[in-house]
Amino acid sequence: MKFQTTHYHLDLLKDADRVSAFFEAINDYSKKTELAYDLGCGSGVLSYFLSNKFNEVKSIEIDSKASCCALKNLEKYENIEVINEDVLNYNFAKKADLIVCEMLDTALIDEEEVQVLNYARRFLKEDGEIIPKAIINIAELVNMQRNYIHWDENASYEILSSPVNYSKVIFKEEINPSFEKNLKFEVNKDQIANGIKITTVTILNDDLVCGPTPMFNPPLLIPIEEIDVKCNDLINVKLKYNMGQGIETIETQII
Ligand SMILES: C[S@@+](CC[C@H](N)C(=O)[O-])C[C@H]1O[C@@H](n2cnc3c(N)ncnc32)[C@H](O)[C@@H]1O
Repeated sequence: MKFQTTHYHLDLLKDADRVSAFFEAINDYSKKTELAYDLGCGSGVLSYFLSNKFNEVKSIEIDSKASCCALKNLEKYENIEVINEDVLNYNFAKKADLIVCEMLDTALIDEEEVQVLNYARRFLKEDGEIIPKAIINIAELVNMQRNYIHWDENASYEILSSPVNYSKVIFKEEINPSFEKNLKFEVNKDQIANGIKITTVTILNDDLVCGPTPMFNPPLLIPIEEIDVKCNDLINVKLKYNMGQGIETIETQII
C-alpha cells in the first residue's frame, strides 16, 4: 500500500525496524477485537494494521496535515474512523480492547505519551491492552563532543561506565510525569566525564522488545558538569526531568 504522508511521517514510515515491531505486536495481539484506538495515528500506518483485526478502529491525530493524509490513506477501510483532534480533548464514548499509542521518544521526555495515556487509560476495558506495554531507561556516563542536549544515533561520544538500568515505565499504570533519581555510575575508564547517555528500550509485548532506531528513541546525550574520573570510581549524578514537558526540563547535578 502507498501512503501519502508529511515529511516527518515519511521518515517514520521508512524506519523498517520501528514499523515491523508494531506490525508484529499488533499481529501477536490475540484478545477481544471489538474496538481499538490508535492515538497519534500520523499517516495511519498502525490503523491500517489494526483494521485487519478489529471491528472498529478510531484513529486520532492532532496534526491536521497528517490526519488529512490518514483520511485519504484509509478511506477504503470502512471500519476506521480518522479524527483530527487532540487526544486530550477527545470525548471517548466507548471503552476499547486495545490502545496503540506511539508518541514515544527517549525517556518519554519530549512527547506526550505519558499525558495522553494518563488521560486515555480510563477508556480501556479492564482486561484491555496497551501497545507498547512499557519502556526501560538505561543511562551511561560518557565523554561527549557537543556540550548541549541532543539526540543522535551517530553522535560522537565515549562510554565511561557500565550501564545503569534506572527506570521502567508501565503504560497500564498511572504514571507520575515528574522524574527524579540519583544514578550511581561505576567508572571503567580514566577520562573526563562530561555527560550521560540515555537509551530507551521499548517493550511492545511480553515477547517483543525494540531497541533504539534512527526514528524511534535515538540515544539522548545530556551534558553534566565536567569531572575527571578514574577506573573504579563511583560517580553519583542526580537526574531530573518532566515527562512530556520537553528536554528543557532536564536537570543534572553531580552529588
Ligand atoms: C511518533 S508519531 C507516530 C505516528 C504514527 N502512529 C506512526 O506510527 O507512524 C506521533 C504522532 O502523535 C501525534 N500527537 C502528538 N500529540 C498528540 C495529541 N495530544 N493528540 C493527538 N495526536 C497527537 C503527532 O502529531 C504525531 O503524528
